Amino acid sequence: MKVSVSTLPLDFLDVDLLIIPAKKREAGARVREVGGDIGDALTAALPDFDGKLGSTVHSYPAGGRSKRVALVGLGTQVGERSLRRAAAAGAKLAARMKAQTVAMCVPGASKDPDTTAQALVEGFLLANYEFRKYKSSSSKGRKRPERLVLHAAKGGKLARRGAERARVVAESAITARDLVNMSPHDKTPTLLGRFAERHGKKHGFDVAVWGKSEIEKEKMGGLLAVNRGSIEPPAFIEMTWHPERVTNKRPIGLVGKGVVFDTGGLSLKPTKNSMDHMKADMAGAAAVIGIMEALARLALPLYVIGVVPATDNRPGQNAYVPGDVLRMHSGKTVEVLNTDAEGRLILADALSYVGMYRPELVIDLATLTGAQVVALGSRVAAVMTSNDQEAMRHLPSLATSSERTGELVHPMPMHNHYGESLKSSVADIKNIGNREAGSSTAAKFLEHFVSYPWIHLDIAGPAFLRKGAPYRPKGGTGFGVRLLVDFLRTYAYAS
Ligand code: BES
Ligand code: MN
Ligand code: ZN
Repeated sequence: MKVSVSTLPLDFLDVDLLIIPAKKREAGARVREVGGDIGDALTAALPDFDGKLGSTVHSYPAGGRSKRVALVGLGTQVGERSLRRAAAAGAKLAARMKAQTVAMCVPGASKDPDTTAQALVEGFLLANYEFRKYKSSSSKGRKRPERLVLHAAKGGKLARRGAERARVVAESAITARDLVNMSPHDKTPTLLGRFAERHGKKHGFDVAVWGKSEIEKEKMGGLLAVNRGSIEPPAFIEMTWHPERVTNKRPIGLVGKGVVFDTGGLSLKPTKNSMDHMKADMAGAAAVIGIMEALARLALPLYVIGVVPATDNRPGQNAYVPGDVLRMHSGKTVEVLNTDAEGRLILADALSYVGMYRPELVIDLATLTGAQVVALGSRVAAVMTSNDQEAMRHLPSLATSSERTGELVHPMPMHNHYGESLKSSVADIKNIGNREAGSSTAAKFLEHFVSYPWIHLDIAGPAFLRKGAPYRPKGGTGFGVRLLVDFLRTYAYAS
């Protein structure tokens, strides 16, 4: 979608729908301030406006250029979250009206036009998202807005910056959504690797993709074992963003779980409400690809390496079995007792691989455990770190980004006793603990392969929604992209 910023008087805007976000208390004054035909139309609609977050009223100006005008409620507390929600309600209204061109006002009293513009544009673009790749042309009838004009009476330059950043960040999140929603058949490890290569060329980051023989040479025993039941070879995708001027000394690593389909392997999953969502088991990988896109498009002065181990997890004649002992990339041995605990096996190899860069921080994103969904639900991801001052130092900043972006995270513990159930009688460790505290034992497993400050995000719940929410449609959400782009922006400009 085209996004622009205008500082011209409101009645110069020639759009199908003009949206004015307002609080109930300020709506009257705002309408008087607008005046003219638009003001008159709004005055007519005003009695029905309750100002609740996301509520809308609309009307039709008698003259002027905008065909329709609407008030959208901002609720009582205006912040990034309510601005995104209000803009999302505006997008829903625009879709209902089949408006092709939409204008939206930055609330007059906005102290920070940059952040405000970013929240409004993000909310609009994310709510406007629809996954249509597999819809045949006959059902392509629904008209969506093609152009969004952000109206900023003051602070146009700042609003332009925020709007432009929002477009990049929302489109990067949409890249991740599209990948998650895609049919597993269209995102085999090889195809995912090709997608990353094309994406890197398009947006300006470097991509190298390893096939099976290089993965064998690198002795990634976890990735190879999970892949053994599959006809499709695995891939190991490495993406690099390293501009000339950077503010970090050593690289930041991002690792994304890329299980393109998780059947559970021989420890097969039941279909209903379980295997039927497992095309989303590469949501961590999708988020890392989306983040790399955003870093390059925003030209962030940071050296970042993103890695994705990619495979599907299937039963097959040669599939790995409970009882198999694997030698991992790090040299440690793992006894497999459940082939459905595959994510940690491929992540372990990727985590020990990025360690070779001596990174100053590594963040992994993984749809790792069903226990995460049970504990925190589908809006909140789990965040975990070892007992390590260097990693914990970053948690307040991550919490701030979480609050700002609405991509919520909540800490889960990593006490040492959670690791005790991973003891194996035949190998260094086994790949499952007992049923208790499944997200924490999974994190403890990963910790065996980590030798640097590390933040683990278990995104099993929020990566994929069975039921849509405002600006988060059903299906892939792109969770993690907005959160970590915000976090890395702060990181880049604070160090
Ligand atoms: N991909 C799943 C985790 C998952 C579950 C993601 C639900 C999204 C929604 C993961 O590979 C898995 O199967 N985990 C097992 C681990 C268990 C066997 C120790 C789980 O959580 O049940
Ligand atoms: Mn699994
Ligand atoms: Zn999985």
